[in-house]
Amino acid sequence: MGQKETKINGGNLFFTDVGSGAAVMLVHGFPLTHQMWDNQIAELSTKNRVICPDLPGFGRSETSRSVLGMDIWADHLADLLNVLEIEKVVFVGLSMGGYIGWEFARRHRDRLSGLVACNTRAINDTEQIARGRKMVAASVVVTGAKPVADSMIPKLVGPDADKSVSESIRKMILATDPESIAKGHLAMAGREDARQWLSQIDVPTLLIGGDQDQITPADEMESDSEMLPNSRFECISSAGHMTPMEQPTKFNPLIKDFLVELSGSS
Ligand code: MLT
Repeated sequence: MGQKETKINGGNLFFTDVGSGAAVMLVHGFPLTHQMWDNQIAELSTKNRVICPDLPGFGRSETSRSVLGMDIWADHLADLLNVLEIEKVVFVGLSMGGYIGWEFARRHRDRLSGLVACNTRAINDTEQIARGRKMVAASVVVTGAKPVADSMIPKLVGPDADKSVSESIRKMILATDPESIAKGHLAMAGREDARQWLSQIDVPTLLIGGDQDQITPADEMESDSEMLPNSRFECISSAGHMTPMEQPTKFNPLIKDFLVELSGSS
């Protein structure tokens, strides 16, 4: 289904590119791949061009970098748009994909026609969280990805989620290079507090959370939404951190309505 690869900054970048119309880019969370958006790609591509990359270091995309960061990934994604000759995009990011979305808005404002921040937060890590990430980064290269999957999955998925959601997340995590898991944790530990520039993100922005999300609680997302000048917050019921996978029939209409609103305002 529209699977492609291109060279970005010395590494192969894998992405799907399906449909035509206003471009939407779906950016996955950590430590996952474009497959977390399987329930969105087909449906959104009936009216839009849907670009869905594996971030460098994850899935089928390579990275030659010893250090990664939200800024580096944001620049790689802008480079991908250049390769595809796409001027503007609606950026949809989940969790770590959302952290990259804040950086994308800061660094590439002219490429954005709208932003969707799913199950994410603007504030950076507390010292305690950053310390925990550094410990995992040191251990994962020795233990492999399994302990990461075991500890993360119960937090990623809400109690009402279908078992198949956890199973498919487990597959994605176990297939991830432990080195990339380490680099991803270090990148997130070092990210900046995006609350500093939220007030300057003037594109229409939709925040989507889940009422069972333990990682990025809905009330925190609502507070972030209040700091954005042109945004609204929607909370999906019976959903944990992985709203697009857990509740696609509630998630997809929110995105589709937002895309229709954007097409009316352009
Ligand atoms: C994610 O889903 O991308 C991660 O939970 C983000 C994080 O660890 O902060």
